[in-house]
Amino acid sequence: MTRIETVDGATAASYTDGVFAVYDTVFGDRPDQLVWREQLFDRHRRRSGFRLALALDADRVLGFSWGYRGARGQYWPDLVARTLPDVGAEWVGDHFEFVELAVEPEARRHGFGRRLHDALLDGLTGRALLGTSADDADPAVRLYQSRGWRTLGLLDGERRVMGVRLPTTSS
Ligand SMILES: CC(C)(COP(=O)(O)OP(=O)(O)OC[C@H]1O[C@@H](n2cnc3c(N)ncnc32)[C@H](O)[C@@H]1OP(=O)(O)O)[C@@H](O)C(=O)NCCC(=O)NCCS
Repeated sequence: MTRIETVDGATAASYTDGVFAVYDTVFGDRPDQLVWREQLFDRHRRRSGFRLALALDADRVLGFSWGYRGARGQYWPDLVARTLPDVGAEWVGDHFEFVELAVEPEARRHGFGRRLHDALLDGLTGRALLGTSADDADPAVRLYQSRGWRTLGLLDGERRVMGVRLPTTSS
C-alpha cells in the first residue's frame, strides 16, 4: 500500500538511503551519497522550514519532494535576484523554495508527482519559488503549470523561474 508522508529535517535523516537511491536514479549528478549529503541533503535539511514529502511503498521510497524557507544570501535566491531584478524585488526573500521533486521511472504517471507537490506545500502561505527546465514540454513544467505555477522569467536558455502565491489560509 503506497502512502504520502511529510517529515521535518531531523526525521528526514532516517530516509537518507531511500531518497538518495531515487535521486541518483533520476538525476545522477553527484558522484556518491557522501557528496550528495554534504552538498545537498544534509545542508538543506538543516535549513529553516525544511520539509520532505515522501511517496512510500511500505518502507521503500518511490519519490520525494523537498523545500525550505528561502532567503537572500543563499545561492539560488541571489542568482534569481541578480538575473531577474524585478522578480527578485517582488518574490525573493521569505519565500518557500520548492527545491526537489522526483519519482522513480517505474512509478511515474500514477499521480505521485502531483501528490508529492501538494503535500510539500500543504498548509504553507505566502510566495513559493522554484527553478526548472525552460522546455515547455518537460513533464515537471506541465505538472507545475497544472498546479497554478506561472513562469516569472528565464535564468538562461535552459532554466526558468516559476512562482505561485499560496492560499492565505491553511487547508
Ligand atoms: C516530473 C515528475 C516528478 C512527475 O511525476 P509523476 O508521478 O509521473 O507525475 P503525475 O503522475 O502526478 O502527473 C501529474 C501531471 O504532471 C504532468 N506530467 C507528468 N508526466 C508527464 C509527461 N511524461 N508528459 C507530459 N506531462 C506529464 C501532467 O500534467 C500530469 O497530469 P495528468 O496525469 O493529469 O496529465 C517525474 O516525471 C520525474 O521525476 N521527472 C524527473 C525529475 C524532474 O524533472 N523533476 C523536476 C525537477 S524541477
